[in-house]
Amino acid sequence: MSFEGRDILTTEDLSKEEILEIMNVTAKMEELCRTQHVSDLLADKVAAVLFLEPSTRTRLSFETAIKRLGAKSITVADAKTSSAAKGESLADTARTVEGYVDCIVVRQPVIGGAKEMADAVSIPVLNGGDGAGQHPTQALLDLYTIQKEKGKLGKQKVAMVGDLKFGRTVHSLAYALAPFEPAEYVFCAPDILQMPDDIIGDMADKGIACRKTDAIEEALQADVLYMTRIQKERFQDPAEYESLKGSYILNRALLEKGNKDLTIMHPLPRVDEINTDVDALPNAAYFRQAHNGVFLRMALLAMVMGRA
Ligand code: NCD
Repeated sequence: MSFEGRDILTTEDLSKEEILEIMNVTAKMEELCRTQHVSDLLADKVAAVLFLEPSTRTRLSFETAIKRLGAKSITVADAKTSSAAKGESLADTARTVEGYVDCIVVRQPVIGGAKEMADAVSIPVLNGGDGAGQHPTQALLDLYTIQKEKGKLGKQKVAMVGDLKFGRTVHSLAYALAPFEPAEYVFCAPDILQMPDDIIGDMADKGIACRKTDAIEEALQADVLYMTRIQKERFQDPAEYESLKGSYILNRALLEKGNKDLTIMHPLPRVDEINTDVDALPNAAYFRQAHNGVFLRMALLAMVMGRA
């Protein structure tokens, strides 16, 4: 199976075999990092890292992954300093940058924007988050984390909590885990921030049991608890955000009521949805999850550039 030249835009079109292959290469990259600080696998490659929306983990872990594979990068880390601010289309930016580099990593606010860029160029485009759409590299690092923390990917009850409407990470996660036959998805959110109907419909078509609730106590009975931030920047009406923020706050006292083997994940950044008193628990996996992002992104970069 070759990933050379492929775009990674969503998790919807990845097969179980392809995901397992990505997990295998990610494990090799983790091993590589243990034994060798920097490799020269991509020493002749240059990647563009275009971040037109705020980011800490995704951008810095991509930059780290690029450097650890010996490649070079050019970066836009602020939309105001790029020609997007002058009104340039994503397709034109992509066609220009294609002449400079071997691969494009992009985060921008428009759903489908990464695909628009991918359609305009022949080099691989990796979607680092397209507005409230998808965030496939996050979901793949989430799977790698679940595999490491739980020793398996499938047949588990996975609860997603928080902003399931605007949260792109949970959209991608639902699709990425689907081929591994989750025992159940528990979607826990205030009504107006529930998982979009089209995604729930797709999961039902795949035969996955889905439960909607607004009670976090139900989510705590799962095997994996995936907390998310209410996506303030996606609300048109600030008053609506104000009325929803703080909807769910996980703390140690609440966890007492839950499954003792619950693995707690979060794509980060957190605002207040996980109290810091949870951080020291052995099953609080979110910082380990963030660290796994480097290995996963090393794997994807090497794969799409034909070196894995
Ligand atoms: C997430 C994102 O940008 O969608 N962060 C990340 O990439 N780790 C989640 C969020 O911003 O809430």
